[in-house]
Amino acid sequence: MIKVETADYPIYFGVESYAILGDFLNEKQYSKLLILTDSTCNELCLPHFLAHLPTTIPFEIVEIEPGETAKDLATCEGVWSAMLDLELDRHSALITVGGGVVSDLGGFVASVYLRGIDCFVVPTTLLAMVDASVGGKTGVDLQGAKNVIGAFSMPQMVVIDASYLETLEPRELKSGYAEMLKHGLIYDESYFNHLKNIAQVDFTDIETLIYHSVVIKSQIVQEDPKEAGLRKILNFGHTIGHAIESYYLINPTKNRMLHGEAIAIGMIIEAYISTVILGLKQELYQEIKESIQYIYGKEMFSETDVEEILVWLKFDKKNRAGVIRMVLLADIGQCSYNIEVSKDLIAKGFEDYLK
Ligand SMILES: NC(=O)c1ccc[n+]([C@@H]2O[C@H](COP(=O)([O-])OP(=O)(O)OC[C@H]3O[C@@H](n4cnc5c(N)ncnc54)[C@H](O)[C@@H]3O)[C@@H](O)[C@H]2O)c1
Ligand SMILES: [Zn+2]
Repeated sequence: MIKVETADYPIYFGVESYAILGDFLNEKQYSKLLILTDSTCNELCLPHFLAHLPTTIPFEIVEIEPGETAKDLATCEGVWSAMLDLELDRHSALITVGGGVVSDLGGFVASVYLRGIDCFVVPTTLLAMVDASVGGKTGVDLQGAKNVIGAFSMPQMVVIDASYLETLEPRELKSGYAEMLKHGLIYDESYFNHLKNIAQVDFTDIETLIYHSVVIKSQIVQEDPKEAGLRKILNFGHTIGHAIESYYLINPTKNRMLHGEAIAIGMIIEAYISTVILGLKQELYQEIKESIQYIYGKEMFSETDVEEILVWLKFDKKNRAGVIRMVLLADIGQCSYNIEVSKDLIAKGFEDYLK
């Protein structure tokens, strides 16, 4: 059995994990289980999940709409109301079966329902397997601003079953891949070098790569669970990435932008800023830019787009007294956090991205 043990909960890998999950649920004698999913996963993932979970505890299924636009308080209220109607008590538990939207929202919903019930996470996207399901950050967006309402709340257990990825769209796979590239860039140069040439990545070995990313993320979280310091490095690419994501989310004229796609652009621009402030070598920046643009292409931003994206930076959770503070790279695999960056330099980063 492959397992990563964190300080708070275990993460199990593979189809054999359902037996362990089932035993755990039965031993805890929960009064009822609520399986939270979205409509796509209800159709594509729930049959596999239910066929493998050996439990005698009664369960109910609640589904939300798929995608980031459902990650808000209105959806939470709908789920909480359903939980009341289904008479879920303090001895019930919630299991999320879905991507990062379902696990972020579900974890938050569970953390405050009746002041907190147990939560289990079964990620079904690559992004959720390598990043969102690990570390206990839960929450939702408010008026387009990313993850501004939420709580640190650790699950009881995470079960990673890569067979869910068989139905995932290639674009969603690439979105998750961006967080894996991030893990390499902030923590493990050889991992980045392996991943950057996507042609060399053998997706039949995806489980090994997922495991590697989970180990990196758990190590960082373990050292700093509440993000007082080191954990901030997991936000590399996210200061600018979240601003881009929010701008696309609320702008009806823009096409859908996935979380990982926005983070990929954010990583290029934050690497540019790293050359100016931390002296990241030009050739390393060019290598990062070229390899990421090779995988994700280049998004076009007008001057107005950039101006409006810069406005969204004010919602970044790392800001202090209105000053933007970023995670920057000194080298591949080495970074620093809390570095003050001006909007002018960020605008220059967009210019260089578009070159
Ligand atoms: N909590 C954290 O630490 C953390 C870390 C990284 C990202 N996030 C958050 O995660 C979210 C993005 O997660 P995501 O990319 O998983 O998005 P998502 O949950 O919206 O899933 C993407 C799409 O894939 C579909 N889907 C899910 N599983 C599928 C499957 N097996 N087969 C076919 N389709 C499937 C979903 O219905 C959805 O349409 C963002 O909101 C981001 O902020 C959180
Ligand atoms: Zn992310």
